[in-house]
Parts: sequence; structure tokens; C-alpha cells
Amino acid sequence: MLSYRHAFHAGNFADVLKHSVLTLVLEYMTRKDKGFTYIDSHSGAGMYQLADEYAQKTGEYKDGIAKIINADDLPEALEFYHRLILSLNSLSQNSLSMNPADLSLYPGSPGIAKEILRRQDSAHLFELHSTDHVLLTEFCQRWRKVFVKQSDGYQGVLSLIPPPSRRGVVLIDPPYELKEDYQKAVKTIIKAYGKFSTGTYILWYPVVKRSFVDGMKSNFINSEVKNLLQVELCLQTDTEEYGMTGTGLFIVNPPWQLKSQLESILPYLQEKLGNNETSYSLDQLIEE
Ligand SMILES: C[S@@+](CC[C@H](N)C(=O)[O-])C[C@H]1O[C@@H](n2cnc3c(N)ncnc32)[C@H](O)[C@@H]1O
Repeated sequence: MLSYRHAFHAGNFADVLKHSVLTLVLEYMTRKDKGFTYIDSHSGAGMYQLADEYAQKTGEYKDGIAKIINADDLPEALEFYHRLILSLNSLSQNSLSMNPADLSLYPGSPGIAKEILRRQDSAHLFELHSTDHVLLTEFCQRWRKVFVKQSDGYQGVLSLIPPPSRRGVVLIDPPYELKEDYQKAVKTIIKAYGKFSTGTYILWYPVVKRSFVDGMKSNFINSEVKNLLQVELCLQTDTEEYGMTGTGLFIVNPPWQLKSQLESILPYLQEKLGNNETSYSLDQLIEE
């Protein structure tokens, strides 16, 4: 029985890191005319109302997107993501004196993809939760070339790889309600890579227990996967206590300039979203 609802967490610090990377990767893919396929294994609802009871109950977005929405000193690499959130909220760079707590909309990963994908690109979105699947289907109504399925996203990824265009981005963003997600997510990428080694794969993870992250890392290192970047933003130092202290992404075949873009984004997010315990890291774990 699934209980995770992303609406509680939409726009938090982990979403800011994940979605700024997703935005940069998808924007890079649109630099060539040839269409590409976007596969989102764990899609969520697509778009979130920040005024609703879920987001207000945790208020997580107030410590995430709300802290940078009025910024006028963003690194260039964050500007596209920032503009996208502003335009969804019908705001422009010139109206940056709003109360950040009044932000009304925050996109999920499908919401970001919908803004960036073109007519020649297609999206395959998987979501198991019945309520979020309904919301996602409604959200996608006027989007051509989108395929929404209420089925297992890990199997979904493997069934679609390689995409006919041989150009593809896969986002794997499980809720980690089940510990097996840590290994299942990595194994899915390793298998998919075996069939489609030129695809870009983005895997999100929470830092809850360091040993789980280390396990993912060593599985990648012992696999055939090449060109793997790992990025992390930890608000607090690792602890054995319950709760998420940090967040990270493994990115296989990142766009060539993503590492340098992250070199400018990470210190900025550390300063704006963090505290004196906050740290970040960026490592090319496996060379090309
Ligand atoms: C972290 S949320 C996704 C957030 C979304 N990717 C975003 O960035 O906005 C994880 C979602 O995966 C769904 N889910 C859990 N297990 C799944 C599975 N095996 N296949 C597809 N969806 C699943 C949950 O219902 C939840 O909505």
C-alpha cells in the first residue's frame, strides 16, 4: 500500500536541486532538432498547488523554492529553472517583490518536461498511486505525445529502452518508502544502460542513511556504466537519527557542461537554502 504523496514535499530543497538539474538536461536535449524521448518512472501528480493542505502542512517549499524566488543574484545556470517557475506563476523577473510564501504553483517533473519538450519530443510517465495518477492524467490532457500509465515505473523504463529516436532522458525518482528502492533503482539503470548506453539517466536519492547511498555508489562502480556524475547537497551532517538530512543525484551521461553549471549552482544553494552545517559535493565517479 503506497502512502507517499509528493504534494507534501513539492518545492523543497531537494526538488530545487533535482528540478534545476532536470531543467538543464532537458534544455540541452532541445539544442538538436531531432526529437527525443523523456521517460519519468515515478512521476507524481505533475503540478502542485502550494496553497493546498498538503504543502501548507509541511511548509517545505518555504525552505526551498520560496527562498530563491525573489533572487536577483542567481547564477546563470539557475536562471532557466527560475524563469520557468516564475512564468508558471504568471510572474516575470520584473515582479520580484512578492511575498515568497504566496507562490501558488510548483511543477513536478512532468510539469517541467511539459514546459520544455517540443512537438517532436515524446514523454512516457509512470505513476502507481491512484489519486496522483488521476491528477497526472488530468494535467496531461492538452499535451500531445504524452503517454501516462498507472504501472510500475522500473519495468516501464526497461520496456521503452532503447527509444526509436536513440535520444532519451530517463528520470528515476522513487519515494524510497521501501528500502529495496535503493538497489532496484540502480539495477534498473544498469540494465537499461546495457540496452541503451548513450541515454542520459538521472537518479534522485535522499540522504537518510549514508550506508544506503554508499551501496548505490558501489553498485554503479562495479557495473559497466561509464560517465557517472554524483552531486549532493546536505543541509545537515549525516546522522543515524530518523529523517532526510541531504539529497543527491547520480547522472549517467550528463550534458558536457552540467558539471561546471553545478559548480556555480551548489555554493549558491548552500548559501541561500543552507545553514552552518550545510555542505555539498560534486564528483565524476566514473570517467567516460
Ligand atoms: C518522489 S515522488 C515523484 C516526484 C516527481 N518525480 C517530481 O519530481 O515531481 C515518487 C512517486 O512515485 C510513485 N511510485 C511509487 N512506486 C512506484 C512505482 N513502482 N512505479 C511508479 N510510480 C511509483 C509514488 O506514488 C510517488 O508519486
